[in-house]
Amino acid sequence: MDRIKVSLLGSTGMVGQKMLTLLQYHPYIDVVNLSASMSKKNSKYRDVVNWVEHGDIPEKYRNMELVSTDPEDHKNVDYVLSALPPEAAEETEIKLIKNGINVISNASPYRMDENIPLINPELNYDHLNLLKNRDTKFVKNPNCTSTIMSMPLNEILKLDYKKITMTTLQAISGAGYTGLPYMSIDDNIIPYIHGEEKKIPAEISKMFGFVNENKIINRSLNMFVTSVRVPVKVGHMGIINVEFNEDPDIEKLKSNLSAFNPLKKFNNLHNAPVNPIIIHNEENRPQNMIDLNNGMEVHMGRFEYRDHNLRFIVLGDNLIRGAAGITILTLETMKEMNLL
Ligand SMILES: NC(=O)c1ccc[n+]([C@@H]2O[C@H](COP(=O)([O-])OP(=O)(O)OC[C@H]3O[C@@H](n4cnc5c(N)ncnc54)[C@H](OP(=O)(O)O)[C@@H]3O)[C@@H](O)[C@H]2O)c1
Repeated sequence: MDRIKVSLLGSTGMVGQKMLTLLQYHPYIDVVNLSASMSKKNSKYRDVVNWVEHGDIPEKYRNMELVSTDPEDHKNVDYVLSALPPEAAEETEIKLIKNGINVISNASPYRMDENIPLINPELNYDHLNLLKNRDTKFVKNPNCTSTIMSMPLNEILKLDYKKITMTTLQAISGAGYTGLPYMSIDDNIIPYIHGEEKKIPAEISKMFGFVNENKIINRSLNMFVTSVRVPVKVGHMGIINVEFNEDPDIEKLKSNLSAFNPLKKFNNLHNAPVNPIIIHNEENRPQNMIDLNNGMEVHMGRFEYRDHNLRFIVLGDNLIRGAAGITILTLETMKEMNLL
């Protein structure tokens, strides 16, 4: 398969718009169908989208007529990329799969299903091998916070750790464009995000799980998460504390994190960052305003080690590393692994 034809569900939402922005110049992925909620079917994309991405609506998508989410409208594609809200995704995605249409999805339903790979490509692209003998492929992206916070854990979990404690400071866009009323978050911090504190450790346990025959066995992790909504548009930050049984070599850990790039063995990964983890040594970094630049990288800083405890900060773009970017990177990786 030289070129890959895709449909995009939820194309008018925050993740959908980011996906179109990233795909507009893609060398081998073509978006051939767009859809949104049913009432917008047959409308031109430009007439019904509330475009909030930088710049104009990409020229090639402006005049496309929206289709429905029904399988009949997606028989002409190799993959459906879904940025549907959970309620809509649950039924729609299964219907597509039952009709033999491959799906890569950002939505939460079925993320924890032991037969469905939950992919953050650098961490667990090998889980995609579960799809080898399946006629129809169903892949899930982790939640945006799980995706970003899990990136440094690959190196941490190799060490003799006792407990991971994480506080996440999550941007407003993580709740979707209409997810949070302005009055509830302007000049405010909300110390609770429904479902996140259970979802994050569960999903990270699955990402670091082991493939056993046709399913994934979750890895047991000792992790405690507190999730907080902060009045920032884009970018989830995490303050992570790892308690160790034995003193680790912190400089070696930092150098392993900087060198972490398991995907470099593949060619043609258009969305893979050269350095997936960037370490900042300045004491006031990483910052949303300075370090996030529409990239797939995860930024780290503020390393401090004392009394068997290592504290560091992690920051990533929830719409790119946390959603649109990894959907595309997963598809690219599947192509390189001959899994399409
Ligand atoms: N935002 C993030 O940082 C982030 C990160 C990771 C994962 N996710 C997940 O990605 C998905 C999309 O998130 P988002 O932030 O882009 O949400 P959003 O801004 O609310 O967009 C939702 C999209 O789905 C469409 N839609 C809503 N109900 C529908 C239905 N019944 N049938 C068909 N289409 C429907 C909407 O179309 P209309 O314009 O017609 O309403 C819109 O295109 C969610 O599952 C979310 O949990 C989001």
